[in-house]
Amino acid sequence: MIDNDFQISAEAIRKRIKVPEHPLWPELTADEKKALKERIKKLLDEQNAVVVAHYYTDGDLQELTEETGGCVADSLEMANFGTTADADTLIVCGVRFMGETSKILNPEKRVLMPDLDASCSLDDGCPIDLFSKFCDAHPDHTVVVYANTSAAVKARADWMVTSGIALPIVEHLKARGEKVLWAPDLHLGHYIEKVTGVDMLLWPGSCVVHEEFKSVALERLRRLHPDAVVLVHPESPDAIVEQADVVGSTTRLIQAVAEMQEKKFIVATDDGIFWKMKQLAPAKQLISAPTTGEGASCESCAHCPWMGMNSLQNLEELLLKGNNEIVIDADIREKALIPIQRMLDFANQHNISGKYQQQS
Ligand code: 13P
Ligand code: SF4
Repeated sequence: MIDNDFQISAEAIRKRIKVPEHPLWPELTADEKKALKERIKKLLDEQNAVVVAHYYTDGDLQELTEETGGCVADSLEMANFGTTADADTLIVCGVRFMGETSKILNPEKRVLMPDLDASCSLDDGCPIDLFSKFCDAHPDHTVVVYANTSAAVKARADWMVTSGIALPIVEHLKARGEKVLWAPDLHLGHYIEKVTGVDMLLWPGSCVVHEEFKSVALERLRRLHPDAVVLVHPESPDAIVEQADVVGSTTRLIQAVAEMQEKKFIVATDDGIFWKMKQLAPAKQLISAPTTGEGASCESCAHCPWMGMNSLQNLEELLLKGNNEIVIDADIREKALIPIQRMLDFANQHNISGKYQQQS
């Protein structure tokens, strides 16, 4: 349910978002890449630093992360990993909210990111001044925010959730009879409402990447491949989610490819995820859900431009310069820690993980 008393529309939010050009990284020869990776490994070692990378980042970066004992995962496990890592420096390859969450949980560690401008349309579309007004208008609601928000927005929340844990947490709040205010992803909010039956107050934000999936073109593609399983991240619009066989976090979608018997999958999420899917199930066929068609825009490429700001090249530069450190105001950190820790404790109690563990 959208709150009619609160005067902010999806269009007004969309206007605030400046989507950057996709960064173009120079092609490297196999020898150049090998040498670059060796230099990065040495620097990580010397600085007792470890990399935490999201499944949407460049495949070479995910590979290097795994080869150096780092963590490649979804936003839930990326948050968790730093708290157990025996390193002085965490290098977060993903988008800014991921680096901020790591810093909030690990104030004693140095947290660096290859590019501090790596934002997210959900985060940019939920500024703290307007979000506070939304919360103030509904003091009787429990405030649940998606991980894709600023530290200041989290500081205003009761709970933080990721896509991998949103459903059980909202079920838990429902069982306690709590009313829920949800921000910022409208589509994920609709999906949670539909599955849990909880009528939530919704902030009208969206992901510019998932919003580009086209429902009519997906219907056509499914007719062409009737044997394919349709995998959808719940940041996608309702008309895409309705066509899914599996809806879930990036980890859940990876698990589907690795464990289901079917051989063909249509994937409606950022195509950076293909690297991990191919690593786990090289014989399976992966098809990107269509992003072009009627109404297609220049953002139609199923790849997040902010996630694309992470590369081997700027990771090396970061290690050489030691810049781009995440700094969070102490008061905000203290308040933002509460909803994040609540989520991690809940995940622990219910054995919910955000990293795909291959069955042995
Ligand atoms: P996951 O937590 O499912 O990895 O999603 C993060 C994200 O930003 C998806 O766009
Ligand atoms: Fe944000 Fe969408 Fe990029 Fe995920 S894919 S980081 S939700 S803009």
